[in-house]
Amino acid sequence: MSDKVVLAYSGGLDTSVAIRWLKEKYKLDVIAVTIDVGNEKDFSDIRQKALRVGAVKAVVIDAKKTFVNHFIFPALLADAIYEGQYPLATALSRPLMAKLLVDTALEEQASFVAHGCTGKGNDQVRFEVSINALAPNIKIIAPAREWGMSRQETIRYAKRHNIPIPVTVASPYSIDENLWGKSIECGVLEDPWAEPPEDTYTWTKSTTKTPNEPNYIEIGFAEGIPVSLNGQEVDSVGLLHRLNELAGEHGVGQIDHIENRLVGIKSREIYEAPAATVLLQAHQALETMTLAKDQLRFKQKVAVEYADLIYNGLWFTRFHQDLAAYVRNTQRFVTGTVRVKLFKGNSSVVGRKSPYSLYNLGLATYDKGDKFDQSASVGFIHIWGLSARNQAEAQLLSQNESPPNLSVTKRTKKKKGRLLNESNSRTLSAGGQ
Ligand code: ARG
Repeated sequence: MSDKVVLAYSGGLDTSVAIRWLKEKYKLDVIAVTIDVGNEKDFSDIRQKALRVGAVKAVVIDAKKTFVNHFIFPALLADAIYEGQYPLATALSRPLMAKLLVDTALEEQASFVAHGCTGKGNDQVRFEVSINALAPNIKIIAPAREWGMSRQETIRYAKRHNIPIPVTVASPYSIDENLWGKSIECGVLEDPWAEPPEDTYTWTKSTTKTPNEPNYIEIGFAEGIPVSLNGQEVDSVGLLHRLNELAGEHGVGQIDHIENRLVGIKSREIYEAPAATVLLQAHQALETMTLAKDQLRFKQKVAVEYADLIYNGLWFTRFHQDLAAYVRNTQRFVTGTVRVKLFKGNSSVVGRKSPYSLYNLGLATYDKGDKFDQSASVGFIHIWGLSARNQAEAQLLSQNESPPNLSVTKRTKKKKGRLLNESNSRTLSAGGQ
């Protein structure tokens, strides 16, 4: 009896060719697993295709709910955004897929798991680090990294073996999508100077075609989790579908990013993430109202770490468990409603309220009802400024010394490698003692 391999199957060219290739090269029975994380695809068609191409078994797993509740929402609670731009849609789906591949392999007593990633991207890392963490004994095969075929050769291989070539092969882009967003790469987008052509974006309207009236929406959160839209309770998957439509209609969520891949390459990435953009913004807005300054500042540092660990494939680590526990705990008062305006490619928070709001009108107001004792500020400033005053007395700044160098140097007129106004800038610099 031949051994089995569980293949992450998308229905695309590479993974279809991989079914045949794994049979030929490794003499393995292929079990194709297709995971639905909210991509608009015909999954029964994909399943049939896997069997036609030669898989001994093909399964489709609807993982939308798990994906949203156990992967997307924890990332939302953490406000995880990679390099300040990317809400991590693709990156979040990989550990979930790895888990489902491993589960299937254990069920089917397969010794191997395979994925269709190339050797240049982050996804191979995310799959393999996750698979290793969950089942160290399972062996991994990455056909597209191993076979060394060019795009043309892969197409020829497919033709030779009667593997249907998907229409998407004609697409100039490489696309990955799920409920948290769409990632688009390749083709003209590889030129970082070229504006993405209109056809790059399919979830978000161009602002030349968006409505001329804004749409106001209200998102209700309970302990950080979005639970209602415009006053109505919604299930998590439904909420993301709806927000992708509503915000996409106004052109919200287009992202154009030069990104640092884990493997050292800088790549130009285009994303569409309407729901993610709105939810991350609204969630952060509610946190600014319900978390104290120190909580908020520390959490912002954690958000950077959290985004990096998701991006870098470290979902199934103790480090993640520790950060997730901290993040979860910060959310106990992040309950309330945020009002968002969608208009001409922008989403802006225009209102927020919470039963646990730390915003105190009595302290903030300049009108009547002011409860702030202004006379107490005198003593506060006296103590707060003590150290600066003490230093000024001991090490008095000279009159012509201004602390930071704020001069704008003209870098255009260079002479023998030195700046013409160099002496000028030195007098303004604090370091010139
Ligand atoms: N650069 C993104 C990431 O690493 C997106 C990758 C998209 N993958 C794809 N096959 N188009 O998460």
